Amino acid sequence: MKVVISVGGSVLARELNPEKFKSYASMLKELSKKNAVFVVTGGGRAARDYINVARELGADEATCDILGIKITRINARLLIAALGESAYHEPPLDYEQAKKASLSGRIVVMGGVVPGQTTDAVSAVLAEYIGADLLINATSTDGVYTSDPKKNKDARKFETMTPAQLIEVVMKTEMVAGANSPVDLLAAKIIERSNIKTIVLNGDSPQTILDAVYGKHAGTVIEKN
Ligand code: UTP
Repeated sequence: MKVVISVGGSVLARELNPEKFKSYASMLKELSKKNAVFVVTGGGRAARDYINVARELGADEATCDILGIKITRINARLLIAALGESAYHEPPLDYEQAKKASLSGRIVVMGGVVPGQTTDAVSAVLAEYIGADLLINATSTDGVYTSDPKKNKDARKFETMTPAQLIEVVMKTEMVAGANSPVDLLAAKIIERSNIKTIVLNGDSPQTILDAVYGKHAGTVIEKN
């Protein structure tokens, strides 16, 4: 099976802890014994810090995004370091490079690609481009909710949902300033157009991801009926 895993910076690099990278690396090595594995790393707090300072200094949004992309690639390099020989030696800069890198038979780890989006969208396009069987979005919430569970006590979690429902939820959340959307709108659109089976789950424990690939998880599954 071909699997793309998007690991939010909030999960992998909330604060920089080598143990977190090590535990992710050992899960990914296990997973790669029987599957082709691609990982997209987010930027986490460091990306947010750099972006906020750049903004304060008057940088335009595209410049802020470029800083964010660089941090996601630095996180990718940390994960590659933890994976050693099991990983392709550097983060591909685009999807074509990622596909080529996978010919090495190693785990491919990349960060962001272009301004104007987040690594959610990168992982969805990558899943589309390499023909992934499964996209896992490992975030700090445990699935997709009817509304932001941090702000609304009545929010209910979807066990399963269609890509069209995902778009509806994301649009509703994204329209609120500072909202914490489970995936970004572009990612939701790509998931819909290619009907990529996607699982959104809490990635704090890497074992959750391994279990999810083999069908056991408590997250939200997104696929057409
Ligand atoms: P993230 O994907 O980490 O964004 O990329 P995020 O919203 O902070 O997600 P979490 O919290 O990690 O889950 C960090 C930043 O890098 C830029 C954006 O500015 C994004 O907010 N970026 C990332 C891009 O501009 N393009 C990309 O392809 C990826």
